[in-house]
Amino acid sequence: MHTLQNFETPFNAMIQGASRGIGLEMVRQLLAHDGIETVVATSRTPHDSRELERMSMKHPERLQLVPMDVTDEASVADAAEEIDAQLDELDFLFNVAGVLHDDSVGLQPEKSLDDIDPGLLQHSFAVNSIGPLLVAKHFVSLFRHGRRAVLANMSARVGSIDDNRRGGWYGYRASKAAQNQFTRTLAIEMGRKAPEAICVALHPGTVDTNLSEPFQSNVPEEQLFTREEAVDYLFSVVDDLDPDDSGEFFDWAGEPIEW
Ligand SMILES: NC(=O)c1ccc[n+]([C@@H]2O[C@H](COP(=O)([O-])OP(=O)(O)OC[C@H]3O[C@@H](n4cnc5c(N)ncnc54)[C@H](OP(=O)(O)O)[C@@H]3O)[C@@H](O)[C@H]2O)c1
Repeated sequence: MHTLQNFETPFNAMIQGASRGIGLEMVRQLLAHDGIETVVATSRTPHDSRELERMSMKHPERLQLVPMDVTDEASVADAAEEIDAQLDELDFLFNVAGVLHDDSVGLQPEKSLDDIDPGLLQHSFAVNSIGPLLVAKHFVSLFRHGRRAVLANMSARVGSIDDNRRGGWYGYRASKAAQNQFTRTLAIEMGRKAPEAICVALHPGTVDTNLSEPFQSNVPEEQLFTREEAVDYLFSVVDDLDPDDSGEFFDWAGEPIEW
């Protein structure tokens, strides 16, 4: 577990997209950190996550579960109001929620043009690109405290236009590319509104979760990270970030990725 030693303690963190996968493991590791005062964990229905509920019973004072659907601005605003009533400041916000496939709406990554469906493209953009930007809109005021702070958006290497050699996955690639542009633009605005805050896009590697599960057969074993490994790597990158890194895109090892 990474110690996140470069945040002034005690500090507050929020994981958006925390009900399972990488986000859930982030909550688990943050709660194991003595320097953490409050962890806010959000997803559409966080109380339906057995693991989050179990953690909340163990840490009733430190863990807050807040419902938030990032595709619905009213839901983001309601969550912000609820959190704002209890927290004055945030030091760390990780926008983790993302979608690659979703049976409930019939979304599968496109193999070719024949698979393009405008409604499903809009769904990918709503969750992967517009969602993190709405969260920034409603939470940026909590970063105006003058201490080192980090707002990280979970991107994916396949969102890099420069890195695209294989094609396919139109919606996921394009929605992460749009998220990347939002992250750069947001970093510039945050440079004016909360100059001590660092805003970045991060790629977690290929991680063993529901999201990657259907596509793991082509991934060499040593390149498929456990959730514990991935979060340890990501927290290490977050901890090492400097103000100069704001507006940039890094992988799990802290290596820059071309946009
Ligand atoms: N796993 C990988 O190999 C990999 C690789 C590159 C990038 N990533 C990125 O890493 C992030 C996390 O992925 P993961 O593998 O942990 O995925 P996951 O296990 O499928 O978890 C996805 C999370 O997103 C939340 N979510 C989905 N739609 C939402 C919405 N409309 N509003 C709020 N929350 C929503 C889910 O919560 P509920 O459904 O409970 O609301 C869940 O907590 C994603 O952004 C993904 O693109 C993952």
